[in-house]
Amino acid sequence: MEEEPMAEKQPVEEEEAPAEERLELAFQRGFLAGRRVAQLPWEDLEQTLSNTKDSSLLLAVLQKTVLHPLCLKYPPSVKYRRHFLSELIRKHECTTDEPLDELYEALGDVLNAAASTHCYKSYILPSGDAVTIRENVAIISQGTTGLVTWDAGLYLAEWALEHPFVFTNRRILELGSGIGLTGITVCKTCRPRAYTFSDHHQCVLEELSENIRLNGLFVQCEHYSLAGEKCRDREAELAKLQGPSITVAELDWNSVTEEELAKFQADVIIAADVVYDPDLTRSLVAVLQKLPACTNDGNPTEIYIASTSRNPDTYSHFQRVLEQVGIRWEDLPELRKNFLPYDQNAKISILKLLL
Ligand SMILES: C[S@@+](CC[C@H](N)C(=O)[O-])C[C@H]1O[C@@H](n2cnc3c(N)ncnc32)[C@H](O)[C@@H]1O
Repeated sequence: MEEEPMAEKQPVEEEEAPAEERLELAFQRGFLAGRRVAQLPWEDLEQTLSNTKDSSLLLAVLQKTVLHPLCLKYPPSVKYRRHFLSELIRKHECTTDEPLDELYEALGDVLNAAASTHCYKSYILPSGDAVTIRENVAIISQGTTGLVTWDAGLYLAEWALEHPFVFTNRRILELGSGIGLTGITVCKTCRPRAYTFSDHHQCVLEELSENIRLNGLFVQCEHYSLAGEKCRDREAELAKLQGPSITVAELDWNSVTEEELAKFQADVIIAADVVYDPDLTRSLVAVLQKLPACTNDGNPTEIYIASTSRNPDTYSHFQRVLEQVGIRWEDLPELRKNFLPYDQNAKISILKLLL
């Protein structure tokens, strides 16, 4: 079997690592996740280089980014790698005189690489393991926003890393999963009992299933149709494989019924970046209203919605519609860590809804 490229294990407390090592890891984390090149810690790099005049740090950054085994197997887009390498070369040229052929060789390789409509982003988890997502290079393609990973999805995944007990041994239903970063992170780190990814767009569902497999997880029910119960009988079989029972379901907020939602027996419902279009808000809230208020164990169903507030009117409209239908909410405290590199300048928050 082909060996998976692993991110090398990070120190348990990264804050305690020497400054240069922390800088290299910041580049690694940001680069592999495809963060905007301008947002990488260039100033810190430039300052360190101007103190040392030694190119070993640049070589280490190159090894941890463009030459990292994850990048070689699952590369970010050609455009992104070109931009990153050009910036690294600029820093090299303005800080050290030592030639560094490796940088120019790497740029040569990328200049010869063919551009594609798809790219990969890899997110290093605290364990040192990684989640890799294949996504579209265009933010909107095939008429959907679902073929890329959004910051609220990263934020919700980060929240899950800090609150694994919310998911452990429970049945999770995710609405508007897109291509799966949040759910795959939860499945890999929080030990849920069952996880249902859902979306309404066919291409999104196909990419989502591929990404789940890419991360070594087993999809028990694929494109599970709400009209039927085809894969449920295989749950016992799956319980033998130590992972969660994973379903990829076609679920449209405009047509899903109470009975169909009840079949998931979800203890926890999550969604990220689903509040962006006022026209969709009513159908999303209608889904929330149709959810059973209690789980099979008699506990209240828990709902967590992570949103980026791009337009305050859209976000307050969502809150108003919740109020109108009698759904209360509480705003969860802001996250402190930024392990999964979501944009810290974006206004992202998580609402816990109370049915
Ligand atoms: C902005 S994307 C967010 C994707 C992912 N949760 C993330 O944070 O990266 C919104 C998602 O909602 C899905 N969506 C939009 N309208 C929907 C509907 N009526 N029923 C189900 N899913 C829908 C889209 O297909 C898309 O995957």
